[in-house]
Amino acid sequence: MQLSLRRAIQMSILVCLPVLAGCAETPAATVDHSQHMMTMPADSATNGELPDNPIPTSDDSLATGALLYEQNCLVCHGPQGRGDGPAGLALNPPPADLSIHTEPGVHLDGQLYLWISEGVPGSAMPAFETLLTEDERWHLVNYIRSLYQP
Ligand code: HEC
Repeated sequence: MQLSLRRAIQMSILVCLPVLAGCAETPAATVDHSQHMMTMPADSATNGELPDNPIPTSDDSLATGALLYEQNCLVCHGPQGRGDGPAGLALNPPPADLSIHTEPGVHLDGQLYLWISEGVPGSAMPAFETLLTEDERWHLVNYIRSLYQP
């Protein structure tokens, strides 16, 4: 009984995983960006409280962030963050244009940090929580702020 239950769970995970993975890639109906953003987990990790950025922007932080960006983000978000990286072109919703979304006053650092950490459900934006350290994710927040084009 125990065993077959476990087996059933394993099977359903095996069946579901490719479907979940496929979702992110399949260009389905066009997603209305504003609607889509409303459903994003703005404060899921913190019960409404956004974390404060513990790392001041400095040349060192920006240099670290730039390197991490090149290694982890550029492929989708593109060299200037415009969402035009080689792997980003076919995605729906497309990678966020970070030269717009990092405008001061639009999103708090803590919000950008949570999106980088948790990913964005219903899109190809991966969760970097287990891939990058907390400090690395904050360096990325500092770096993508510098991509903002007034
Ligand atoms: C596989 C492609 C892919 C990679 C790699 C990727 N992203 Fe994204 N990212 C996306 C997509 C697609 C969205 C758009 C989600 C949406 O519109 O709902 C997004 C959204 C975001 C957002 C939300 C911005 C906003 O206001 O909508 C931030 C911040 C972000 N990405 C930062 C990063 C950072 C930093 C990295 C690297 C650590 C990264 N992304 C790597 C695809 C990617």
